[in-house]
Amino acid sequence: MAQGNDRLRGKSAVVTGAAMGIGRATAELFAREGARLVLTDIQGDPLLALADELRRGGAEVETVVGDVSVEDDARRMIAAAAERFGRLDVLVANAGIIPLGDAMEMTTADWDQVMAIDGRGMFLTCKFAIESMLPTGGGAIVCLSSISGLAGQKRQAAYGPAKFVATGLTMHLAVEWADRGIRVNAVAPGTIRTERVSRLRDEPGGAEYLADIERMHPMGRLGEPAEVARAIAFLASDEASFITGAVLPVDGGFLAQ
Ligand SMILES: NC(=O)c1ccc[n+]([C@@H]2O[C@H](COP(=O)([O-])OP(=O)(O)OC[C@H]3O[C@@H](n4cnc5c(N)ncnc54)[C@H](O)[C@@H]3O)[C@@H](O)[C@H]2O)c1
Repeated sequence: MAQGNDRLRGKSAVVTGAAMGIGRATAELFAREGARLVLTDIQGDPLLALADELRRGGAEVETVVGDVSVEDDARRMIAAAAERFGRLDVLVANAGIIPLGDAMEMTTADWDQVMAIDGRGMFLTCKFAIESMLPTGGGAIVCLSSISGLAGQKRQAAYGPAKFVATGLTMHLAVEWADRGIRVNAVAPGTIRTERVSRLRDEPGGAEYLADIERMHPMGRLGEPAEVARAIAFLASDEASFITGAVLPVDGGFLAQ
């Protein structure tokens, strides 16, 4: 395993949605940086395979399979950190789905599902994380917002508003808990080459959408999951000790236009 810089040495961290994409890249980097990990996902098999791989590299890893939108599952994911490692220092609230479609295409069920997972799931995991961090003097939370949580885009009539929830939750929780030692920040990735985004090529209109979106990033390419993971690790680490309530674009210049 490639060596990290020990920026998270000994910290106990929960990563939701860790089986794939940005969550997986974050888990891999956190392991290299010395974190003790609780990895959670709704998909058991790839989650357990990742955990085994990281353990072989020497990391301490616990897993919880569950759905962040279900209150008891969210509680179990967070509780696992204190149970296994005695405390919780970091939450990466990453689990989410990315349904794409305009307001004519998106149904009530689509809206409810993305708000339940990306919205309520993020709220619940943050809520239980704060509860767990308070007795030990604080911690750091990093939420996954998006360029779609800071600006409008086409074909994101349900997903985009759900990412505005992530942005809003980050800012409100940051102010609410700053004096209790809990920092809450977000990253706002541009389009990142994850499993979800790669699958777009097979969806109606997906290939054209991808070509357009690539052109819309001033750097002329999509981002890589590891590039988002590095920003998450910075915000989670003590290097970001005076940063809270920030929403950091990791977007190849998209939002600067
Ligand atoms: N990929 C991008 O371009 C991009 C851009 C901006 C923001 N984001 C955000 O980053 C996060 C991760 O996205 P990704 O592209 O890596 O997606 P992904 O689909 O590749 O991975 C998401 C992971 O979350 C898990 N998950 C989904 N629903 C869950 C649930 N209810 N409970 C627990 N786990 C669940 C999935 O099983 C999967 O492992 C999301 O919050 C997304 O909104 C992604």
